[in-house]
Amino acid sequence: MIPQSFISDLLNRVDIVDVVGRYVQLKKGGANYMGLCPFHNEKSPSFTVSPTKQFYHCFGCGAHGTSIGFMIEYSGMGFVDAVKDLAQGVGMVVPEQDDKIPPAQRAQMQAQSMALSDAMSHAAEYYKSQLRQAPAAIAYLKGRGLTGEIAARFALGYAPGGWDNLRAVFPDYDAVALVEAGLVIDRVDEEGNRHKRYDRFRERVMFPIRNTKGQVIAFGGRIMEQGEPKYLNSPETPLFSKGHELYGLFEARQAIRDAGYVLVTEGYMDVVALAQMGFPQAVATLGTACTTTHVQKLLRQTDTVIFSFDGDKAGRRAAQRALEACLPQVSDNKTIKFLFLPAEHDPDSYIREFGAAGFERQVAEAMPLSQFLLRVVSAEHDLGEPEGRARVQFEAKPLLQAMAPSALRLQIVRGLATMTQSSPGEIEALYELSKPVAEVRRAPPRSSRQQPVGLELQIVRHLVAHPALALQIDEAGMAAFASFGPEPHERLAQLIGAACALGPQATFAALAQHLKEQGGEYDAIIGEIAAEPESDVDAVRVYLVSAIRQIKMDALKAELAQLFASGLSSTEIGVRYREITAMQDQLLREAEADLSAR
Ligand code: UTP
Ligand code: MN
Repeated sequence: MIPQSFISDLLNRVDIVDVVGRYVQLKKGGANYMGLCPFHNEKSPSFTVSPTKQFYHCFGCGAHGTSIGFMIEYSGMGFVDAVKDLAQGVGMVVPEQDDKIPPAQRAQMQAQSMALSDAMSHAAEYYKSQLRQAPAAIAYLKGRGLTGEIAARFALGYAPGGWDNLRAVFPDYDAVALVEAGLVIDRVDEEGNRHKRYDRFRERVMFPIRNTKGQVIAFGGRIMEQGEPKYLNSPETPLFSKGHELYGLFEARQAIRDAGYVLVTEGYMDVVALAQMGFPQAVATLGTACTTTHVQKLLRQTDTVIFSFDGDKAGRRAAQRALEACLPQVSDNKTIKFLFLPAEHDPDSYIREFGAAGFERQVAEAMPLSQFLLRVVSAEHDLGEPEGRARVQFEAKPLLQAMAPSALRLQIVRGLATMTQSSPGEIEALYELSKPVAEVRRAPPRSSRQQPVGLELQIVRHLVAHPALALQIDEAGMAAFASFGPEPHERLAQLIGAACALGPQATFAALAQHLKEQGGEYDAIIGEIAAEPESDVDAVRVYLVSAIRQIKMDALKAELAQLFASGLSSTEIGVRYREITAMQDQLLREAEADLSAR
């Protein structure tokens, strides 16, 4: 469980306009931002994002939610991944499951992650400045056909020779942040004693890896002569996880939108060289296999992903891994293609030899995923024999099972059926494909509960919209809600408890997120609040105070009526009667004082 307080902090820290704006083109319109709804097909915008509520809402299809909700709905990631993704973007560290780290320590970790970010950007600036003074490195880059403009666009740098150049760059070369950021290495002897610290990157051309916000999170450093390793990379750090990041994505974002597709390559130099030659829509996996997270990230930027692999055997293997990473993400409005360059080429060398037009032709001829899949499964088997055809079906089974039901999956099944002399129905039965790949998870039904109505509904709506006000409801107020009946009383107590738990900084977004995780009970109310102009918190405060007073009054009146009907003796009634009328007077005085105060 990620603590609720972390979720609140996160929702306070991220800006939903930013988050949604990464995937939906938004235009300012009044207090809100408007765009075409990504959750249904529309021609004119009815999708709104409210910066004050930190909430999105579509008037067309009713979709609504927080930044977290948006990530879940839009990218199909789970709750925890969505939180992690957002947290990473704002330098927050998600507490691990069941983790007992006290808040003070967590705050310290937060500060640490900020320190890492700072260290990385500081180092990047330094390497950049060093490149200007390094004729050999400049000559190397020129020799590879790069202009100063492209070097600047990718913030390329140079780490000079020498063991501890960073000592002069950072006020405290011994700071923990430097080793945690992977900028230095601590040499440790056999007894585990730390001896000498030295710079990780020395005499290398530096490629900073930036996250989608443009913050430097890692480096790749290329050696200029022959030597090992050719590229030295930052280790995995709290800021950087290879399987999640793509080199050049930050730089390519606009170009990807303009081109309508992203080209995925294998290397740093491919990205930079392609940009140099007029192909700015390229990114690279960082010397690792393409992961599902990579694909997810890319499909959030564009509907079309084209992988480009070197024509050699390693390239084909990498392509197969990429295919497997793509399958769970395939849907009928996405296009995934595979491009294979001649064996001796990578994108960098190919575009240098054949020019942008030549490369463009390769892109245009890229192989669709369906075709590549059928080719992969059939490559090594003899379709002329029953055993061969059975093997092909065997190989294809896990691949098709990884796909969600879609028209494309059916097309592939058909292709496979033809190829293996079967019928599509036989294949689907054999693979048990009619079963949905993933069960859709739904909150347990709670509809047996009655929905709030009348005054209770008003109070619920105001508390959901302005949860910080819940802290102002005193015990007497809580007790007064009993007059709504046991179930509404319980419901209000729970809601107020949840709102109070968020503290004085509680926001609509944070509470809405919390309620959503508890089930869909408040969905309709949240949707209504999201759709309305924001209510004024002071007016609502006044309303709540007077509504609660009214409930107390009504309760007293009811008690009084009951008292007279009870058949108790006049002395017994007398005591309680005086108490009740005194409370009524008190409430009236409060009401008058409130009125004159306004
Ligand atoms: P390549 O060996 O294909 O290098 O590795 P490249 O990108 O074509 O680089 P140049 O053109 O020789 O300069 C592809 C990617 O694999 C990772 C890097 O991300 C590289 O861009 N790699 C490769 C490493 O991390 N370390 C290495 O030693 C080699
Ligand atoms: Mn290369």
